[in-house]
Order: sequence, then structure tokens, then C-alpha cells
Amino acid sequence: MAVHLSTTTALVTGANRGLGKALVEALLERGAPRVYATARRRETLDDLVARGSGRVVPIELDVTDAAQVATLAGQADDVTLLINNAGVAAHMFGAFGDAAWLEAGRTEFEVNVLGTLAVTQQLAPVLARHGGGAVANVASVASFISFPPAPTYAASKAGTHSITQYARMQLREQGTYVAGVYPGPVDTDMAADLPFEKTSPRDVAHAILDGLEAGQEDILPDPMARQIGAAFHAGPRQLEQPQPASA
Ligand SMILES: NC(=O)c1ccc[n+]([C@@H]2O[C@H](COP(=O)([O-])OP(=O)(O)OC[C@H]3O[C@@H](n4cnc5c(N)ncnc54)[C@H](OP(=O)(O)O)[C@@H]3O)[C@@H](O)[C@H]2O)c1
Repeated sequence: MAVHLSTTTALVTGANRGLGKALVEALLERGAPRVYATARRRETLDDLVARGSGRVVPIELDVTDAAQVATLAGQADDVTLLINNAGVAAHMFGAFGDAAWLEAGRTEFEVNVLGTLAVTQQLAPVLARHGGGAVANVASVASFISFPPAPTYAASKAGTHSITQYARMQLREQGTYVAGVYPGPVDTDMAADLPFEKTSPRDVAHAILDGLEAGQEDILPDPMARQIGAAFHAGPRQLEQPQPASA
């Protein structure tokens, strides 16, 4: 199964900045006739809407807000591609015993795992009505291997990967193509303090769309993603090397 962008109506969560914004821009560039851009604060989408020539429809959405999620199918009843991009890394660079990991982990699981599931549950019937459609969940290379600077984020992204598998298994019968996206470091606010080489959000967004057009189920959209993905598939234990927990 593959996505044909020129006939796709997409919905992107967390679309006001970072990778989500780049995904909306890339979708527009590649001919998607309509893109629902969602964000926690609607006014943060004004710039995208102004540049979208009528093709960007803004929706206010906190993926952890059940009441807002429940209105989605009514507001976006022609969606054929859902991109669950909204995500949070609530704490980084603590010691092993840092009490802040626990609260951060709760937030990260709410957004990165349960938010992804809730939005997919809500839009799955819409996708089914339009022939199955597609779902792309933005996970991370940290889905494959823990990341000591952000261990609870990594655990939540392993959860995003698991929810992606669940959705793929359960939605196959209705014809929905479900892809997991596993980026390495991307040059956005989230990764600002990470001392790694980063890929631009624009390049990652286009690589994700390339993967969707090719019908890939595991999209590794940058060099580090491909390197860690290959090492993981060769033998996950070799990735378990001690790493510094602080920058
Ligand atoms: N940057 C990286 O190195 C990297 C690597 C691998 C994967 N990823 C993943 O890529 C995705 C995009 O991240 P990014 O790098 O673009 O980070 P970012 O610049 O921090 O943007 C995060 C986006 O998620 C939104 N968001 C956070 N909590 C939300 C909630 N409860 N409901 C709705 N939206 C919410 C934010 O909205 P507000 O503006 O309202 O906060 C923002 O739009 C995330 O899933 C992230 O985990 C990032």
C-alpha cells in the first residue's frame, strides 16, 4: 500500500512548530489538496494558514484532551492520512535516581503513547470510510534502544512503536496502511540541548513522505536512523553500550 499525495487529505498533530510544521509544508509542496494542521493553541497556526492558499485548515487539539479528540472525526471527516507527530520530552539529563523522571514519564506516556492511540481510535472510522487510508506514527530511534539522557522519553517512544504495531494489526482488515517513523536527532526545539549532528526538519519531513509514497512500514528518515535501525535488526544487544547521561 502506498500514499498518493496528490489525492491525500492529511491531518498532522503538533503542526505549529518543529517536524510537524515541516510536514505540513512538505505536504503542501508535494500537492496534497488539504491539510488539517492541529495544535494546542490555534493562533500558533496562523502563519501556516496564511501561507497555505486555502489548503491548510487549523484545528485546536491537545492530544491528551479527550473532549477535543472526540470532536476530530466531525471536523476532519475526509482525512485519508493521519500523521501522529505531537510529542514531548518532558525531562532530560538527570541522574539515575532523579525523582523528576517519574512525573516526566507520566506526561510523556500521556502524549506520546496514549495521545497517539486516542487520535487514531477517533479517526480510524473516517479512514475506513475512505477506503482505508494511512496512519504514520512519529516514534524515534529511541524506540529501539534506551537513551540515557531521556530514559522515560525513550520508554514512551518504545510505547509509540508498540501502539503502531497494534494499529497495524487491528486496522489491516479495514485496509489501513500503518507506518512507524523512527527519526534520529532532528534540528528542532526538542533536540536543542542534544550534542549530536541533527538533520533538518525539512529533510526529515520529505524523507517521511518518500517512505509513505513507497509504502514502507518502517520509515528511517535520516542517516542516524538508518544506522541504528540496521544495528538493531542485526542484534539489539550491541546497542546497549554505556552512554553519558548528561550533556
Ligand atoms: N527532535 C528530535 O530529535 C526528534 C527525534 C525523533 C523523534 N522526534 C519526534 O518528532 C515529533 C515532533 O517533535 P519535534 O522535534 O518537532 O519537537 P518540538 O519542536 O518540541 O515540537 C513538539 C510538537 O508537539 C506538540 N505537542 C506537545 N504536547 C502536545 C499535546 N499534548 N497535544 C498536542 N500537541 C502537543 C507541541 O505543541 P506546543 O507548541 O503547543 O508545545 C509541538 O507542536 C515528536 O513526536 C518527537 O518525539 C523528534
